[in-house]
Amino acid sequence: MTQDLTPLAASAERAPDILPAGWLDYRNTGTRVVHRPGAIDTLGAEAKALGCERVMVVCGGNTRRSKLFDRVLAALGPRAVLVFDQVVEHSAVDMVTRGAQLAREHRVDGLVAVGGGSASDSAKGIAILLGEGGRLQEHASRFEPPDRFFPKPLPAPKLPVITVVTTASAAEVTPGLGIRDNDGRKLLFWDNTLASRLIVLDPEANVEVPVAVMATTAMNGFAHCVEGLYSRLRNPISDALALHGIRLFMDALPRMVANPKDIDARAGVLNAAHLSGMVISNARVGIHHAICHCLGAAGGLSHGVANSIMLPHVMLYNLPVAQTELAGMAQAMGVMQGTEAEQAQAAIQKVRELQVSAKVPTRLRDTGLDISLLPLIADHALVDRGTYFNPRRTVSAEAILQLLKQAW
Ligand SMILES: [Fe+2]
Repeated sequence: MTQDLTPLAASAERAPDILPAGWLDYRNTGTRVVHRPGAIDTLGAEAKALGCERVMVVCGGNTRRSKLFDRVLAALGPRAVLVFDQVVEHSAVDMVTRGAQLAREHRVDGLVAVGGGSASDSAKGIAILLGEGGRLQEHASRFEPPDRFFPKPLPAPKLPVITVVTTASAAEVTPGLGIRDNDGRKLLFWDNTLASRLIVLDPEANVEVPVAVMATTAMNGFAHCVEGLYSRLRNPISDALALHGIRLFMDALPRMVANPKDIDARAGVLNAAHLSGMVISNARVGIHHAICHCLGAAGGLSHGVANSIMLPHVMLYNLPVAQTELAGMAQAMGVMQGTEAEQAQAAIQKVRELQVSAKVPTRLRDTGLDISLLPLIADHALVDRGTYFNPRRTVSAEAILQLLKQAW
């Protein structure tokens, strides 16, 4: 099937770069990463090295029933004073508030998140409440289109977060997080002290995670690399990380889907995902993530599924202002022939091919999403901070609604 690669609008405005070309404002988060078979079994010693004697384990119900979880608890031994297994997809303000209350009552000195992005974000949200006090909503950043961003500093010291990763979402890498409010909006937070102090990746234990979950969350990681490459806040270091992340995903993701027991392929996907988290820890994400946040929080889609579907549509939307970056991406995907314009279009086509080899969903209509929610999702996405960092200036929800309809 041939794809229509015509950009949505004839005139597209590139928003000015926040970080001028050649400047660097780069941050390392002080995270230690241990990635090897059997890494989970070292968790007790690693927690001790961080000075954690009384940790609360944070996870969802499915994770709690996994073999991987049993190994986590065995490795932590008496250091695990409490298991909080109420994490829900996209996290939730009330749930995080309950978790913080329990952590306070049990005087915990560290949090161990086990699972994917929602477990990781919930642990970070609990750390915010324990450190900053007050209500979660008070600590969220805010964006007013077209160009007014209000970051919310979170200066209080935070409990260390240790993360045992089961998906390719890379949430554990970043200082940012999203939590669903009761009205279906995604509240977004950011502070460098929230990034995991220790990340444990275990490709052998990962074989227990369904390959479909790994594939859709890998598309999320892949999208981090794409959005970081053309972000208004990109820099030479995030560019390098993004391009290599794309290479690793292109190599490992199809191999993992073809052979779900391939530990080397799982390890490749986990490494690529980690790189993708390093990309957005500095370059941030764009309008693709703004849309995916709202497809999740208001529409109920998993973040990985939303990412899997939306990415080529949003790349096409950004093509008129990000041709050079997309051409560079195509080269990382092995496209060496053609003009810059041809290569940029090839990058989008390559992503469509990746959707097929990764066996991920490609249409919103197949997800059970209620089509009447699309205008609301577009309205919410317009004021998500991702829209601020996106290279193509977007001043009305109508453009986002068009994108959603294309993806439908
Ligand atoms: Fe993401």
